[in-house]
Amino acid sequence: MKLWGGRFTKPTNELVEAYTASIGFDRRLAKEDLEGSLAHVKMLGRCGILPQEDVEKIAEGLEELRRRLEAGTLTFDVAQEDVHMNLEKHLIDLIGPVGGKLHTGRSRNDQVALDMHLYLRREIDEIGELLTDLQRALLEAAETYIDVMIPGYTHLQRAQPVLLAHHLAAYFWMFARDAERLRDARRRVDMMPLGAGALAGTTFPIDREWVARELGFSRLYENSMDAVSDRDFILEFLAAASILMVHLSRMSEEFILWSSAEFGFIELDDAYCTGSSIMPQKKNPDVPELVRGKTGRVVGHLVGLLMVMKGLPLAYNKDLQEDKEGMFDTVDTLKGALALFAGLIRTLEVRRDRLATVVAEDFSGATDLADYLVRKGLPFRQAHEAIGKLVLHCVERSCFLKDLTLAEYRTFSPLFEEDVFEVLDPRRVVDARNVRGGTGTEAVKAQLQRAREWLEDWSEHGNGNLARADKG
Ligand code: ARG
Repeated sequence: MKLWGGRFTKPTNELVEAYTASIGFDRRLAKEDLEGSLAHVKMLGRCGILPQEDVEKIAEGLEELRRRLEAGTLTFDVAQEDVHMNLEKHLIDLIGPVGGKLHTGRSRNDQVALDMHLYLRREIDEIGELLTDLQRALLEAAETYIDVMIPGYTHLQRAQPVLLAHHLAAYFWMFARDAERLRDARRRVDMMPLGAGALAGTTFPIDREWVARELGFSRLYENSMDAVSDRDFILEFLAAASILMVHLSRMSEEFILWSSAEFGFIELDDAYCTGSSIMPQKKNPDVPELVRGKTGRVVGHLVGLLMVMKGLPLAYNKDLQEDKEGMFDTVDTLKGALALFAGLIRTLEVRRDRLATVVAEDFSGATDLADYLVRKGLPFRQAHEAIGKLVLHCVERSCFLKDLTLAEYRTFSPLFEEDVFEVLDPRRVVDARNVRGGTGTEAVKAQLQRAREWLEDWSEHGNGNLARADKG
């Protein structure tokens, strides 16, 4: 017998039952559903809608269900359609018909909205913790390798050498904005929809403010139709999650490239790699590859829910049941990626020797050489032209700028003097860029200090502030 069976004369078609049921996935909301029901029934008692003895029986029943849920002994039945009706049915089986009073002044529509808000609020907090830890791992690595230079690229062509710490810190700040985006989305997850009823509110004199306080919500929905039919709080989470995954995916791509023989900048720890079933020499960067790959599904969930929402009339429509699986999968995918990346970064090895050779063997000092001529009075455009020709000369002779003699330099410009060779030293090229936000060692140290302060602020007040870093 269905909880809504009164209006029906025939049993539900089996295929319909299987097709419309959500218990296979919304059972993940059982904890939140019980928490919401407990607050609801206490409120019904306080408002004199239910007698106190009924409230106590129901509350005890809900507590027992909570214990069974934690012990893993609660069973769910597809015939009961979703988590809400499964739990209500369990309650009635447990404490008798009085259990049927729980749903007074409530609909599954506001109930499921409440569950989702409770669930997502908790998960955003957990994701925030994992993200902070990943930022810490990045910062530790940046500090450990503060002396290491790597080639900096544009168009994936060598451009100018940078500090590895500077490169890693770039991701730190992307993640800082991701943390802020999640925190901002959380403000709109932190809203209480219960009391909206099916769509129009309820005839019972309920106290929505009390329920909101009891469940720790800082605001409540002002419109019952809005409360049961919008899912923008999930969309915002999915959008923030998608941007965060895209950042992780870009970092993945670099780690994959950097650990290849062609780059050889880093060595991923054995514990974070896997082998090949046929090629004995292989050590594959599966973790960053999968993070890069799984970015597709997270962005897909965002687009999927946007499409679910785009044509829906107010208020509740069954389409909204489609909001859950993508959200759950995004939470799981994101948490997995964040936890793995923190470990991956903490265990990877930077190949210092190789990088020392790599940064010395390219033309990435060319801009500084042009600036050298500019400082001697040549207009930048002419300096650019002269160095361009110099580079071409080297390319034709298969050598680098540092390999030419002063006499050769002078054939390109009489302004060259003995000090030209100092300018080409990659360390000088890096340290010449001590502008705020630049790659010079002093500038990067100051940047890492600001990153530390951001982290401290964030973990202390949960309120990191990029504006603060702006003020210096
Ligand atoms: N399982 C449903 C969902 O996830 C719960 C709400 C059902 N409401 C309804 N009017 N059928 O959306």
